[in-house]
Amino acid sequence: MRLLLLNGPNLNLLGEREPRHYGRETWPEIEQRLHERAAGLGIELTCRQQNSEGAMVDILHAARHEADGVILNAGAYTHYGYALRDAIASIDLPVVEVHLSLPESREEFRHVSVIAPVCVGRIAGFGALSYELALEAFARGVRGAGKRTT
Ligand code: DQA
Repeated sequence: MRLLLLNGPNLNLLGEREPRHYGRETWPEIEQRLHERAAGLGIELTCRQQNSEGAMVDILHAARHEADGVILNAGAYTHYGYALRDAIASIDLPVVEVHLSLPESREEFRHVSVIAPVCVGRIAGFGALSYELALEAFARGVRGAGKRTT
């Protein structure tokens, strides 16, 4: 199975960015562990990060031909990124929404996810472990209760 992990804005600064919400681990440290975990699960994992919504849309379009599923931490676009939401709806791939923090326990603007209705499931609040749990969900063939892609 080929999975694309796509991180959105500001997630390149993990480790130094608001550690009380996102922890002290850097993305390269997290990514290395995810690659090891993915290899153990028989998953071919590609990780990308973009700060702009349009670039994320382009990557999701390309994923149609390159991946079997997507793990997406859309960062703040989660809450208002309609172009991103439409891109997810436009591709015939299962997308799992992931967050390090639990957005519902934070500011009110984070309580809305405009991408949730087009994702198959959502994992939030477990720090970097949220990404590993998403890998595990794909490995176990969980299709989620959300958007059907067939
Ligand atoms: C986040 C939560 C978002 O509200 C925030 O804008 C982020 C990170 C998370 O992983 O907890 O950038 O997606």
